[in-house]
Amino acid sequence: MAESDKPASRFSRRSFIKTAGAGAAIAGVSAEAQEKKPEVLGPDAATLTLSVNGAPRKVTVEPRVTLLRALRNELDITGAKEVCDRGGCGACTVMMDGRIVNACMIMAWDAVGHEITTVESFGTPEKLSPVQAAFVEQDGYQCGFCTPGMVVSCTALLKKNPNPTLDEIKAGLAGNLCRCGTYSRIFEAVDKAAKTLAMAKPATGKAAAPKPAAKKGE
Ligand code: FES
Ligand code: FES
Repeated sequence: MAESDKPASRFSRRSFIKTAGAGAAIAGVSAEAQEKKPEVLGPDAATLTLSVNGAPRKVTVEPRVTLLRALRNELDITGAKEVCDRGGCGACTVMMDGRIVNACMIMAWDAVGHEITTVESFGTPEKLSPVQAAFVEQDGYQCGFCTPGMVVSCTALLKKNPNPTLDEIKAGLAGNLCRCGTYSRIFEAVDKAAKTLAMAKPATGKAAAPKPAAKKGE
């Protein structure tokens, strides 16, 4: 093969120096990055403090433990239920800083610094919250497994929208599944709770126009 036909060398002296320079730069960055290593959690358990229903609660858990399991297995707060364990059913619904979340989808360590509110904080068997009472009065459950999550979502919905339409109730509870199919009664319970809460509110002189009530079977 003639010299002129040979493929040009991939590396010239110039490119070698450039490559070596880039390598040195990368080595410099990684040395810097190494100094700022992110905190590594686990694999051993460590103690952390969760704020649950207004009280600090210490739990010792591995980083792989979800908020749901920390609540149920470490703190014996069992209102939130583990059903699908993958964010699909809403049985584990709790509030985090006032917003509803699936506790099975949040690591306990990620809940540190946030206020966690569970169904246990709403009322007692002797003095149910208006939402809990409405579920009882309207027979809004069969097996009851979805009920704590439903009550949490319903409570959050009525805080945001005290006078929801049926469609708004359905949208507000869209993340909560009831395998017993008690939806019509649940929607009636939400409607009933909204009316009870509205009556309990001090009069402001401006009454909100009532929205159509939830109908059975819808
Ligand atoms: Fe968390 Fe189903 S158990 S969403
Ligand atoms: Fe049984 Fe809803 S009442 S899952």
